[in-house]
Amino acid sequence: MNKQKIIIDTDPGIDDAMAVFFAGLSEKLDLVAMTSVFGNVTLDIATRNAMVLAEILNQNVPVSEGFSKPLVQRPNPVSDYVHGKEGFGDIPARFPKAKPTSVPADKYICDLINANIGEIILCPVGPLTNIAMALRHDPTITSKVKSIIIMGGGVFSGGNVTEFAEANIWNDPHAADEVFAADWEVTVIGLDVTQKVVCAHSDFSKLANKAPVIGGFLAQATDFYIKFYKEAVGINGCQMHDPITVIATIYPDLFTYEYHPIEVCLEPSRIGETMISKDKTRRFAKVAVDVDIDAVKKIFFDTIETGF
Ligand code: BDR
Ligand code: CA
Repeated sequence: MNKQKIIIDTDPGIDDAMAVFFAGLSEKLDLVAMTSVFGNVTLDIATRNAMVLAEILNQNVPVSEGFSKPLVQRPNPVSDYVHGKEGFGDIPARFPKAKPTSVPADKYICDLINANIGEIILCPVGPLTNIAMALRHDPTITSKVKSIIIMGGGVFSGGNVTEFAEANIWNDPHAADEVFAADWEVTVIGLDVTQKVVCAHSDFSKLANKAPVIGGFLAQATDFYIKFYKEAVGINGCQMHDPITVIATIYPDLFTYEYHPIEVCLEPSRIGETMISKDKTRRFAKVAVDVDIDAVKKIFFDTIETGF
């Protein structure tokens, strides 16, 4: 079976770790590279953590370092209250043996897409700065990538960091708007669906028993993450934003979609809101509006359990 090639652009981050582990362990996916970006943590921690995830997977996945700040606005503070100071809850920093590639993320993304025309799914699960810069570097990637599937926004749900904005879009709204304005169909796995998929502490402790290395890591990291959700959101579990976005790359039929042109509000009062655009020149995005919750959870836990 030919595996689907995927690049994950990421700011690890606890749910980013879940997404990367899923991609690394799925027999349907070939994780060809990770590119790092600021967001949940600073860029240096994001790059380090991406390499740590590859090391835990025991896979030789190249990590290319991306941008440390947004295109236009001043950086927002990191989300250490959600993901912990070092990105994986209370788990102390770990220093990988690997080094990042010498080619920076925006160019690395273009190089990989040009070397594998029509074969790569680009899956950004952090702020879209690297992707906007890749588009500026080589706009032809829009027709050479197989598809782009992002975790970001909430077209109908509203935001999670402000009333209007979801974290990844809020961290670089100008970059996100460039990505939506480009000549490709962006699949949006936003809060409209990711907030529906909530996993409890018991899900991760069961996983830890069955897959002690990766399950154990996730059980420890999600302790912190679930505390945040309990205190700040009032739910008994954590939302699975980034892993279900990767799941959507290979199980698109578990989601239902609407098609709308999307733009990002750049006005200060509602900055980062993903809105349906009146701009007739914009390509329609494929916006996930519903998800088979039980199916995506089962695929996630079965893959981690059996993959390691
Ligand atoms: C998104 O923001 C980050 O905190 C998560 O990793 C996810 O990518 C959810 O809004
Ligand atoms: Ca993320």
